[in-house]
Amino acid sequence: MLKRYLILSLSITLFLSLVMIDSSITFGDKIDYKKIFRNDCEKCHGRDGKRSKRGKKLGSPDFTDAEWQASVTDEQLIASVTNGKKKMPSQKDNLSPEEIKAMVKYVRMFAPKKRR
Ligand code: HEC
Repeated sequence: MLKRYLILSLSITLFLSLVMIDSSITFGDKIDYKKIFRNDCEKCHGRDGKRSKRGKKLGSPDFTDAEWQASVTDEQLIASVTNGKKKMPSQKDNLSPEEIKAMVKYVRMFAPKKRR
C-alpha cells in the first residue's frame, strides 16, 4: 500500500516538473523586446529611437540616423549593450545574452528604410 502511494506521488512529481520545464522553454523563447525597450531603454533612447532629452545630454546616438546605423557593427552594439559604453549603462546583469541580441535587432529596426 505504502509502496503504491510512493510510486504514485513520484510520478506526479515527475510529471509536474516536466510540465514546468516545458513551459519555461516556451516562455524563454519569446523575448518581448518592445516591453524591454519601454522599461529599460526608452528613458534615454526615446520611444522612436531618436533619443530623449536626457539621452541627448548623455550623448546617445540617434537610432534613426542612417549614417550612424552604417557606422556600427552588430558585434559592437552587442558589446556596448552588454558591457556599457561611457554613459550607456551595462545590461549584463539585467538582460540575458539572447535578450541583448534581440535588443540590438530592435535597435536596427529604427534604421530608415532604404529608398529603392
Ligand atoms: C541612462 C541612459 C541610457 C539607458 C537607460 C540606455 N542607454 Fe543605450 N546609450 C546611452 C548613451 C548615452 C549612449 C551613447 C554611448 C556613447 O557612445 O558614448 C548609448 C548607446 C547605445 C547604443 C550604441 C552603442 C554603440 O556601440 O555605439 C545602443 C545599441 C544602445 N545604447 C542600446 C540600449 C538599449 C538596448 C538599452 C536598454 C536595454 C539602452 N541602450 C539603455 C544611454 C542609455
